[in-house]
Amino acid sequence: MCGIIGYCGPKPMGEVLLEGLKRMEYRGYDSAGIAVRSNAEITVIKRAGKIATLREAVQGELEGDCGIGHTRWATHGGVTDENAHPHLDAAGKVAIVHNGIIENYSVLREKLAAEGVEFASETDSEVIAHLIAKLYDGNLAAAVQQVVQLLKGTYGIAVTHIDEPGVLVGARNGSPLVLGVGEQEMFLASDVTAILGHTKQAIYLEDGEIVTITADDYRTTDLQSRKVDKHIQIINWELEEIEKGGYRHFMEKEIFEQPESILRAMQGRLDHEYATGHLGGLNMSKKELLDLERVKIIAAGTSFYAGLVASYLIESIARIPCTVELAAEVRYRNPIVERNSIYFAISQSGETADTLYAMRELQRKGARVLGICNVVGATIPRESDGGVYIHSGPEIAVASTKAFTSQLTALYVFTLLIARMRHMSYEAGMMFVQALEEVPDQVAKVLNLAPAIAEIAHKYHEARNFLFLGRGINYPVAFEGALKLKEISYIHAEGYSAAEVKHGPIALISPDTPSLFLVPDDALREKVISNMKEVKARNGQVIAVCVEDDHEVAALADDVIMVPRVHELMYPFVMTIPLQLFAYYTALELGRDVDQPRNLAKSVTVE
Ligand code: G6P
Repeated sequence: MCGIIGYCGPKPMGEVLLEGLKRMEYRGYDSAGIAVRSNAEITVIKRAGKIATLREAVQGELEGDCGIGHTRWATHGGVTDENAHPHLDAAGKVAIVHNGIIENYSVLREKLAAEGVEFASETDSEVIAHLIAKLYDGNLAAAVQQVVQLLKGTYGIAVTHIDEPGVLVGARNGSPLVLGVGEQEMFLASDVTAILGHTKQAIYLEDGEIVTITADDYRTTDLQSRKVDKHIQIINWELEEIEKGGYRHFMEKEIFEQPESILRAMQGRLDHEYATGHLGGLNMSKKELLDLERVKIIAAGTSFYAGLVASYLIESIARIPCTVELAAEVRYRNPIVERNSIYFAISQSGETADTLYAMRELQRKGARVLGICNVVGATIPRESDGGVYIHSGPEIAVASTKAFTSQLTALYVFTLLIARMRHMSYEAGMMFVQALEEVPDQVAKVLNLAPAIAEIAHKYHEARNFLFLGRGINYPVAFEGALKLKEISYIHAEGYSAAEVKHGPIALISPDTPSLFLVPDDALREKVISNMKEVKARNGQVIAVCVEDDHEVAALADDVIMVPRVHELMYPFVMTIPLQLFAYYTALELGRDVDQPRNLAKSVTVE
């Protein structure tokens, strides 16, 4: 979604801002712009479209002492140059960039218009620039402080003023903002990837905080001007991790990183002596874990499907009821928080608005919400009551891949921990530990199938509809496979329980609508084979993902992807990888923008 970069320092202003925007491209955006302050004026250059278009519009080096930049994902007003940020006030003295949504903007806009202010865009954000100009009285931080108290909604903002050389002011409410502390240079950003090339020292702002930066100093206050002391945190990501490292796309790189990322998610968390899991960040006593009667999971998108897989696992081996709900639905249904229950908020980014707001609503009602997140220091892990970091490293491609398998890993370790406190024997626990530890190698073996999967993608890439079918613990994997294909190839795909096909979707079956069946060697294998026969009998084409020596399935299917035989509960890992690769190669065949698919954003910070 929208991205903010701000810079005070000696480096070439245009370059730092454009580089920061480029690093945030992955978040998804449809226009971009920068504003550079110099003693003569504030120069604003902004364009609808890609950063390459903006770069072309920036002629030569931009001289200035501070600057701000923005990537916009349209909410209020179409994708036009005018609606792109930064926005200026009427006199061109104030420039602002804004992430979030100002809910009362129309009231504010009407009032300003009645006073004679002319608006240059259709955005909700522009009112902020005009209000700051109106209330400015020689102190930018003070003006920002007054203005944000007039705003209803969410914001992360960065502001510059012509009368304040080398000064930027930032403020946050519900939309992330981080301060980067460098050597004789300071940054503001909505995302640490924007500043990682310059500094690893970060200060995360909280809601209701305002920060003023110059090249060599910063000051953070609350909305009453009281100084707030903040700790510098060290960003634990390396620059190489946010670069492609020889791969064609971030998505390809991230798919192939999974043997290591899964390993990182389990490292130090498996206890061989007692055949159990160990998760220090849960902040729960042994008694609380023993008293646990219910697990509830809230999430969106791919994280939701990871939760669904976990619900099968938790119920089957820990024998604790587990429900999974879309976070967006939880907030407004007046959720009932039961005693001895915990919630997991699963979110790669830790910033998804639907998940964050649902979490806050649950916490208000007394729930204990634990985060399962990747981005350290993001809002969900900071506001949750404990949780687990999945340590996937930065996930840059919009379509989530390695975060999914790492979320599963963390949830598998949690399930082992609570299962061993209940019905699971030491022997069964030990088998589970060994099976989980074998997953990275098995995933590596599945990755070797990439060339064969690319050929299958070539064969089917012209299909306009696809069904993904699985059962049991692999049923949510079918959803995830369908989501991957939709997201990056724009082919319509639906995930279903293989059993459900006969209750409606079978009407879609024809030679033009292929079905991808997940057929692990588990208790439901025979049933899935019957479902497959029903599709074949109606001239449907079938791709089967099955275990390596399953000749019966191979003989039935038109195409087959054979994965290693694994512990029954580990199939979601080895079955997911072929679906990610299939979506990736299909999108390549169709010439899609794999890493930044149309209309999508990596982290959706609006409801
Ligand atoms: C967006 C992304 C999806 C992602 C979902 C949840 O819609 O495009 O890929 O699965 O958000 O994101 P989260 O960061 O909360 O896991």
